[in-house]
Order: sequence, then structure tokens, then C-alpha cells
Amino acid sequence: MAVSIVVGTHWGDEGKGKIVDYLGENAQVVARAQGGNNAGHTVIVEGEKYVFHLLPSGVLHPGKVGILGDGMVVDPSSLLGEIDFLRQKGKDVSERLFLSSKAHLVLPYHRILDGIYENIRGGRKLGTTGKGIGPAYEDKVSRWGIRVGDLEDEKLFAQKLRVALDYKNLLLERAFNQPPLPYDKILEDYLGYASLLRPYIADTSKMIYQFYREGKNILIEGAQGTMLDLDHGTYPFVTSSYPVAAGSLLGVGLGLGSISNLEVLGVCKAYTTRVGEGPFPTELREEMGDYLRDKGGEYGATTGRPRRCGWLDGVILRYAARINGITSLALTKLDVLGGIDSLKVCRAYLVEGEEVDDFPVSSHLWDKCEPVYEEMEGWEEDISSVSSYYDLPSSAQRFVEFIEDFMQIPIAIVSVGKERRNTLVRKEIF
Ligand code: IMP
Repeated sequence: MAVSIVVGTHWGDEGKGKIVDYLGENAQVVARAQGGNNAGHTVIVEGEKYVFHLLPSGVLHPGKVGILGDGMVVDPSSLLGEIDFLRQKGKDVSERLFLSSKAHLVLPYHRILDGIYENIRGGRKLGTTGKGIGPAYEDKVSRWGIRVGDLEDEKLFAQKLRVALDYKNLLLERAFNQPPLPYDKILEDYLGYASLLRPYIADTSKMIYQFYREGKNILIEGAQGTMLDLDHGTYPFVTSSYPVAAGSLLGVGLGLGSISNLEVLGVCKAYTTRVGEGPFPTELREEMGDYLRDKGGEYGATTGRPRRCGWLDGVILRYAARINGITSLALTKLDVLGGIDSLKVCRAYLVEGEEVDDFPVSSHLWDKCEPVYEEMEGWEEDISSVSSYYDLPSSAQRFVEFIEDFMQIPIAIVSVGKERRNTLVRKEIF
């Protein structure tokens, strides 16, 4: 019995979906803890591509229990679409998927307000995914939110919607000069979703606790990444939830003291990317950035936006190790670096003439961080069909071992391609 938390070490898109799908084989329960359909996790199995936004990627394995935890914000139409998509692919999750009644609902006004807020910011846009995530969490915190469990009682839901929508329409009309949203239509749509979602709604925190006590392996699938964390990321260019490891336990309702066997697996891409606005010290704005984007297929799985690309930021990786308490690492997309003569990893920053090796907490310093690089020899070969770590070219092994040495954390998994079989395991996680 063990709990493994998978976290992104940078700004998301580290390839967590693939790693979680791989680890899912040895877990009996796979869970999402926070975020919503802003996430986009791509998994390729037997040539078939699956993109998950809300469902934990591990549900692709038959018989695994999938949980959408308490800390999530759930857009019901998006969730029902994913369940339906899997059904069409012959993968029915209806008996084994559970949705926390404490999770919050994303409502149509959240998506509209997400767009309005971005417009108001003008040149200081956050570059959100536009899925209404920030406004849904804003309502949760200011106690205007409506929870999944409220869908179970039609009368109660109708009352809560009335109060929340009156307030939101006041905002839309008076503050933003927009037309009000129709109560009847939203009520009808959401009661329709309610009848389809009712079988999935459960007290998932209690379920997870019981599964753990029964000796099951539980895999908590992080979404987004450390630097998008509301508290620990590059605020305000962050998401509105807690992608760090502590947020995972909070988001599934598991008490820290009840777990004796916890692994925190940090998933780190062999180079760094970010989608949306905000600081990014190792960003490559010239040719090499385009090369990584094209070769790595670095376009957002949720929005299709081109991702900004740069060399691996080891300063942030070290910061992520501290904030999350990372016990093992998975290094992904190593194959993308093939064909580059000289590779770089940022090991420190030069900030106002001084070398620093921790990520500065003060935001006014972020744009002043100049990367200090370690340069390494690259490799020519296409490594995407290599099936054992020791068959990698020696310079690829040196790259992996440099990071391991720099981090003093074992690299348990090296991923060299999109398929499950392109996963080189150096240390078993479960
Ligand atoms: P929001 O989560 O839609 O509010 O967007 C806030 C920031 O988080 C933006 O920069 C998004 O691009 C980023 N973001 C949110 N979810 C993901 C993700 O799953 N991967 C990468 N970036 C994300």
C-alpha cells in the first residue's frame, strides 16, 4: 500500500499524462486532486491518441478506480464529453469513476468572466485557458460557489443558482455592460447534467481513505506544474489552485498523518516550456526555441497555443524539489534533444551581478534572472526506439546523470517517446 503523487516541476506540460498512464498499471486507484479542464494530458496507447482534461489518465487501464477529487472545479459538459468519448472507444468507466460531491461546478458565467477579466488586463493578460477556472475558484473562496453535491437536490440547486446568478448578472450588466444570462436555460442544462452525473457523485475522500486502509496503491495525478501554483508559482501568472504535492493531499482529502508510504515523483521535461504569459528565464526566442517547439510538438493540448520553449531550468527544478519534497524524478522527452550538437542546462542565475542558485521570491527580480549554463555534448542518434537505458548513446546517459547528480535525487524513469513502450525504468515506483 502506497500513495504516489505525480507533480510537474515547471509550468505544466511536462508529460505527466504519459507517466501517470504508465504508473497506473501498478495502482488500483488513480485520482485528480485539483484544477479542472484547463489541464490537457495526452496519452498514446497502441497508436491511439487520448487527450484528457478532467479524467485521470490512469483510467485508460481497465478496472482501475478513477477519482475526481474534492479540490477540483468541474465543467459537467466537458466531463460528460470525456466519459462519452471513452465509451465510444470501448472503454466504459461508468462503474469505476467517482466524482467528489465537494468539487465545485464551473458555470457558464465563469467562462464569460474569464474572458472579461483578461480583456480588462489589456497588456498584462495572464494568458488563461479561458475555461473559467479562475472565476470558479474565486467563487469557491468567496463562498458564491455551487458544488457538485448540490446537483443531487434539484430544489436546492435551483435556489443556489438563483442567488449566484442574480449576483453574476448584476456584475455582467452593471460593471461590464454585458447582457444577463438566462436563469431557465442554465437551470435546465445543469439539471440535465445532474441526471447523467448522479451515479458518479460520491464522498471520494472517504473512499480514498478506505482504499488506502485496504492496502491499495493510490496514484494522485498532478495537473499543471509547480510554477503555476497559486502560492509558490510565478504569481500572478499562475493558475488558481495548488498543483504542488501538498495540494494533492488536500485536494483528495487524505490526511498527512495517515500515510506512511508516500512517493513524490517530479516529472521534468528534458527542456522547459511554458504556455501563457509570465517570466521564463531560460526561454529561447531564436531558432533553437522553434526547433524544440516543432520537434517536441509543443502546442497546448487544451488551447492549441504554441508553447514558449527554452533550455532546462535546473534552478526551478531544485526549487520544485524543495517545495514538493520530490523523492524521485521522471525525465521526459529526452528524444527531442537528439540532433543538437551542444546542450545546455541552467544551473544558476546571475541576478544583478550576483550568482544565485535558488529561485528568487521577489517578482521584481524575475526578469533580471540571467541563466548560467552548464554545456554538454549532444547526440545525433534517434533514441525513440531504445528500450533499455544502457542502450542510450553515452552522451544521452551523461545528460541524465548530470541532472541526477545536480539534483541528488534518483531519476526513476526516462521517457524517449510517446508510446507506453518508450519508457525506460531505472527504479520501480510502486
Ligand atoms: P487558467 O488555469 O486557465 O486560469 O490559466 C492560468 C495559467 O495557467 C495560464 O498561463 C495557462 O496557460 C496555465 N495553465 C493552466 N493549465 C495548464 C496546463 O495544464 N498546462 C500548462 N499550462 C496551464
